[in-house]
This record gives sequence, structure tokens and C-alpha cells, in this order.
Amino acid sequence: MNQDIAKVLLSEDEISEIINRLSSEVTKDYKNKNLCLLCVLKGSLIFCADLMRRLDFPVELICISASSYKNATVSSGNVEINSLTDNITGKDVLIIEDILDTGNTLSNLIKYLKELSPASVEICTILDKPSRRVKDISAKYVGSVIPDEFVVGYGLDYNQRYRNLPYIGILKPEIYNN
Ligand code: PRP
Repeated sequence: MNQDIAKVLLSEDEISEIINRLSSEVTKDYKNKNLCLLCVLKGSLIFCADLMRRLDFPVELICISASSYKNATVSSGNVEINSLTDNITGKDVLIIEDILDTGNTLSNLIKYLKELSPASVEICTILDKPSRRVKDISAKYVGSVIPDEFVVGYGLDYNQRYRNLPYIGILKPEIYNN
């Protein structure tokens, strides 16, 4: 285990089981629809790649950048979203997120997407931290509800590091308190 990690919250095996369950749920709901996966960079890159490989029906992938943390452990509340060049009008958009925390990122993103007239917009997040929510928002598909700890790995970063860890772990507080 990486020496900066206090505790593994979700192991590789546990993540794999979660992806199996989520891919079954998404398949059941979307296999006869016009599914467009919207990968929210950068944190969702690995989760999206794993999830989409378990979907055995036609899907479209588009990516968007959204960022609010600016190398801190708490959301700044100011969300920067880059404009989409792909057309989502009339499509069933499923937002793929690594973590739903305060909800600032997704509430801003959904507001932006709805102006582009998709057929539907839902959220699939591997991690949900409802204890820190400031916006009235919830995900249709949730991998794991987690406590209020700062987590990294499997795409999630602190200061752009740790995204490559194959598990999700709690970062030792001394790493971000120094
Ligand atoms: C993280 C994460 C979510 C968002 C969730 O992104 O990937 O998009 O924060 O937090 P919120 O619910 O409090 O808004 P971040 O801004 O760190 O960018 P990144 O994905 O590039 O790491």
C-alpha cells in the first residue's frame, strides 16, 4: 500500500464488484436507448473506462472537463466547465462521476447540459458523500456511500497525485495539513 494512505476504503476486488452491479443496472435501464456516457474529467476517467467496457450494447462516449477543487481538499464552489463540441440533443446522457460531494460540480454541469436539450440526464457516481452536500442533488446510480474522509485513488487526486492507485484510500491528514 502507498505510504501516504491511512486506510484502504475500497479494494480492487470491491471496486470490481461495484462495477459489475452498476453495469447491470445501467444495462437494464439503457440497453434500448440512445445512451451517451459523459465522462467528467479528470477524476472519472478510470471509472468510466472500466464501466463502459462492461456495457455490451451500443454506447457513445463524450468527455467534459469540470474542476472546482484547485489543489485543495474542499470545493471552491466555482466550477469551471469547458464547452461541449459534441451534440447531445435528444440523447440519453448518463454523467459518469468519481465522487458526488458538495454537489457544486454536478448542479452546475446539469444546468449547462439541460440548455443543450438532451432527452434525459442522470448521474452515475462510484462514490457518494452525502454528509457534505450543499446542493439538492442525488445520483440515480451509486457505487458506495462513504464517510466524510478525504479519499484518493482510482482517478481521484490530491494536488494531481494518487490518481493511479488501483484502490480507493483515505489520505493521511498530514499530507494535506503540511
Ligand atoms: C472532483 C470530482 C468531482 C467533484 C465533486 O473534481 O471529480 O467532479 O470534485 O465534488 P463536488 O460535489 O464538491 O463538486 P475536481 O474539481 O477535483 O477535478 P478533477 O476531476 O479534475 O480532479
